[in-house]
Amino acid sequence: MTEAPVSASKNTTIPPRPHNQIPPEYLDAITTGDCRELVARLPDQSCALAFADPPYWVGYDYGNRTDKDMAHIDPAWLVAELRRIAPIVCVTPGIANVYRYPPADWLLAWSKPASTGRNWSGGYNVWEPVLVYGKPTRRLWQDLITAPGGREQAGAFNRCPKPLRLLTALIQAMTSPGDTVFDPVAGSGTTAVACKQLRRHYVAFEIDPDTAEKARQRVENTQQPLFVVPLEQLSLEAEGIPG
Ligand SMILES: C[S@@+](CC[C@H](N)C(=O)[O-])C[C@H]1O[C@@H](n2cnc3c(N)ncnc32)[C@H](O)[C@@H]1O
Repeated sequence: MTEAPVSASKNTTIPPRPHNQIPPEYLDAITTGDCRELVARLPDQSCALAFADPPYWVGYDYGNRTDKDMAHIDPAWLVAELRRIAPIVCVTPGIANVYRYPPADWLLAWSKPASTGRNWSGGYNVWEPVLVYGKPTRRLWQDLITAPGGREQAGAFNRCPKPLRLLTALIQAMTSPGDTVFDPVAGSGTTAVACKQLRRHYVAFEIDPDTAEKARQRVENTQQPLFVVPLEQLSLEAEGIPG
């Protein structure tokens, strides 16, 4: 499946991070392995942004197991390691886990209108928090990012993929072309796909070999657009995304 080209931003004054310190086998690759072991191989401040979308531990079905069966990634350890590796860290913890994470410097809202997921009272859950650690150097136009869906774009091979639009917005807002973005729990590879389209480097780890292989194929099938338009200049309708 070919991902539709999305937008990218003008180059800015953020200096490139020293991604040449990253072991070359990890650069622009989705590496199969446990992030709890692999992160130690990444040098301090070697990436511009770290984004993590860890399992929610709420019983999501990941094929041969649920996310409750997965080994636990300690939230405090994860945030500390990601902050060691990048000056800006974004985490999508899921509403149920948000208070298990260290207090963040900033909170963004990811709006997912028309979502049919349930909230705690039995109604509908139409937003998710994005925890931000560190201060972005560029202005984010709004602290609400509307990005419906996710499963369709990822080919539905991961139980809980994030929408490409959400990653596109975060990466555009917090990095520049040529920077490196780190994702320790890559899933269907949405971060890597956004990086390829936006001309950023990426480092990604995924513990499940089958998921990692499908994510690699997804990145392989992703086209780089000829040019990139700032996200705020695109409408959901123009991108063919129902609101
Ligand atoms: C919520 S999904 C990530 C979805 C991803 N953001 C996307 O858009 O597809 C979490 C992923 O973390 C992986 N995972 C769980 N524990 C891991 C670990 N210790 N190291 C690396 N990956 C892990 C799971 O296999 C799953 O694919």
